[in-house]
Amino acid sequence: MNAVVLTSSGLETQTVPTPTPAAGEVRIALSAAALNHRDQYIRDGKYAKIQLPCVLGSDGCGVVDMAPDEASHLLGQRVVIDPSFDWGTNPAAQGPHFSILGMPRQGTFAEYVCVPWQNVHLAPSHLTDAEAAALPLAGLTAYRAIMVQGAVKRGDVVLVTGIGGGVATMVLQFALAAGATVWVTSGSDAKLERARELGARGGANYHVDTWTADLANAVSGFDCIVDSVGGDLVNDLTGLARAGGRIVFYGTSRGSVPSLNLHRIYWKQLHLVGSTMGTPDDFRAMLDVVRQHQLRPVVDSVYTLAQAEQAFDRMKQSEQLGKIVISCN
Ligand SMILES: NC(=O)c1ccc[n+]([C@@H]2O[C@H](COP(=O)([O-])OP(=O)(O)OC[C@H]3O[C@@H](n4cnc5c(N)ncnc54)[C@H](OP(=O)(O)O)[C@@H]3O)[C@@H](O)[C@H]2O)c1
Repeated sequence: MNAVVLTSSGLETQTVPTPTPAAGEVRIALSAAALNHRDQYIRDGKYAKIQLPCVLGSDGCGVVDMAPDEASHLLGQRVVIDPSFDWGTNPAAQGPHFSILGMPRQGTFAEYVCVPWQNVHLAPSHLTDAEAAALPLAGLTAYRAIMVQGAVKRGDVVLVTGIGGGVATMVLQFALAAGATVWVTSGSDAKLERARELGARGGANYHVDTWTADLANAVSGFDCIVDSVGGDLVNDLTGLARAGGRIVFYGTSRGSVPSLNLHRIYWKQLHLVGSTMGTPDDFRAMLDVVRQHQLRPVVDSVYTLAQAEQAFDRMKQSEQLGKIVISCN
């Protein structure tokens, strides 16, 4: 089969052996996969315990073509893959054996992938293959950030930073589904405009010096802020949160906070919460919300397996709004 393999010299489209499922696994003939920033971090060598060569890719949609007896009901079905493995028994946080599909386990930038059948779920029927492939990792992360860790409810006012991000666009959609009013930030006015079309009330361009003051003038404190940027932005976010509000962090694209204003955090009685991926129950609940509200992940662009390097470069330059998809067949 054809696969995008990350080697010590970079990304290469190669012909590799078609995988056969181990005990308890299904094989999926993939129609589409999707990129996450994790893939770019691994390509850049900025990820823990990198093992090469490896087929990257945590997201996929396809049809089950081999299945063990206990999963024969999945044969011929169009499915998506829960990319979280071995979460463990504590719903509050993943255990020590937790891992994510696509390094070290062979991922979805390929024509076929094998995964445990318990990680496989029917794809929501209202989604195209590209939309279904765009859903799993970003949808799971966004669902847990908003619905579980953020506990966002009807009437809340929410801020989502960096709306161009694949997860951020899903955070916007889940927050709207929860009944919140949503504001966004972006480095691009065109992305702010697109976010308004998707249902955001308004936004601010973080390249404009007055962006925090502009948001503070428009909203008298956010009930919940969902961020993956981190860095010195965190002190701006504690300023924008309402007293008693929540800030959910699921990434640190700009690194750790150089100098945290701790005084403001205790004085405003803020709740700072971390969020990573989600439990198997979160994944099922996420699919339920997607079906109930007929949510459609935002697909930015679609590339072939042979064009994977261009797809990665688009993500590296933050040119996308939503998910970058790879067509696998
Ligand atoms: N903990 C988890 O489970 C989990 C899961 C998924 C992702 N993550 C992390 O979350 C981050 C985003 O992942 P992703 O896959 O959604 O990435 P992505 O699609 O590449 O999105 C990154 C976005 O961050 C925004 N951004 C960059 N610098 C910014 C700044 N200074 N201020 C505000 N926004 C800024 C940009 O938005 P604009 O283009 O709008 O400016 C960019 O499009 C990554 O660090 C990733 O590792 C964590």
